[in-house]
Amino acid sequence: MKSLIQKAEQLHTLSKWEIVSLLKNSSEEESLCAAADRVRHGFVGDGVLLRGLIEFSSYCRRNCCYCGLRSGNFKVHRFRLDEDEIVKLAMKAKNCGYQTVVLQSGEDEYFTAKRLCDIVEKIKKLDLAVTLSIGERPTEEYRFLREAGADRFLLRIETTDADLYKKHDPGMSHTDRLRCLDDLRKLGYEVGTGSLIGLPGQTIESLADDILYFKSFDADMVGIGPFIPNDETPLKDAPAGDIHLVLRMLAVIRLLLPEANIPATTAMETLLPKARMLALQAGANVIMPNVTEGKARESYALYPGKADVADTPEVCGEILREQLKKIGRFVENSKGFRQHRN
Ligand code: 5AD
Ligand code: SF4
Repeated sequence: MKSLIQKAEQLHTLSKWEIVSLLKNSSEEESLCAAADRVRHGFVGDGVLLRGLIEFSSYCRRNCCYCGLRSGNFKVHRFRLDEDEIVKLAMKAKNCGYQTVVLQSGEDEYFTAKRLCDIVEKIKKLDLAVTLSIGERPTEEYRFLREAGADRFLLRIETTDADLYKKHDPGMSHTDRLRCLDDLRKLGYEVGTGSLIGLPGQTIESLADDILYFKSFDADMVGIGPFIPNDETPLKDAPAGDIHLVLRMLAVIRLLLPEANIPATTAMETLLPKARMLALQAGANVIMPNVTEGKARESYALYPGKADVADTPEVCGEILREQLKKIGRFVENSKGFRQHRN
């Protein structure tokens, strides 16, 4: 096992079966995470990139079985921020010192490409990098948004197991998902993808396939997180994902994609307080503090108990800076584009 970790640390490549054995082996988790931490230090440094997350609409036309925003959930409060509110939150993010905002929503058709382009153009004037996380759109819309100045796009593949995807994401297709990701890449976005860990029916082998997909796609960013059951969804009785498996996934992703920007996600922190700090010591180098406020922030309920919902962005920022200091890390003041090594 030690030699496998060494191989991954030096060559940044592993076969599917080697990945499977690392993911299965919880006794070597510490050495695995330590190797990932060294690779993170060597390739992306000790700075932690902060990206201000703005959740601007909880309307969604999709019906993903795991997600609280699914169209079949009539209990969740739906909201939309208007253009001014979104731009104001971007200004607030800038005042908090963040140089990137992530505009995230359900798949909400009210926000036409035209409406979104206007918002992107206004935020770009604030000299912020803009990341979109708004789901699947036609190629042309991705193009308009890119031309309006959007820099990055997050679209998780969720799982590379096409049958599992079909089961948990009714009416969606794996082929469409791949088309979107390829379009985004061709249009020159920095592209982030990722998966949910612990979906019912998901195997370790399929998680290894996910990692190989991230590598072959050469993802600029990889966001993963544990599945957390939501009471208002068909998966309410399913067990949550295993946080330690998430940490091992994260570590292997860092070993195989040394240049990628990898967030320590809120879902990790929700399952285990301090998991975000553990993630930062297992390969992660990005945190996405939530800058959404009040009722909107409460209502954006993908899963229950979302960490930090009660904190204001200013407080979140302060606490984070303190916590980072303790593990020898610091907030990096940059827009945080991927640095290519050769
Ligand atoms: N638990 C954890 N993550 C979830 N997401 C949606 N529902 C859940 C859940 N119940 C994730 C999906 C989506 C991202 C925005 O949130 O992976 O891509
Ligand atoms: Fe909508 Fe995204 Fe939730 Fe699926 S995961 S229901 S697309 S918000």
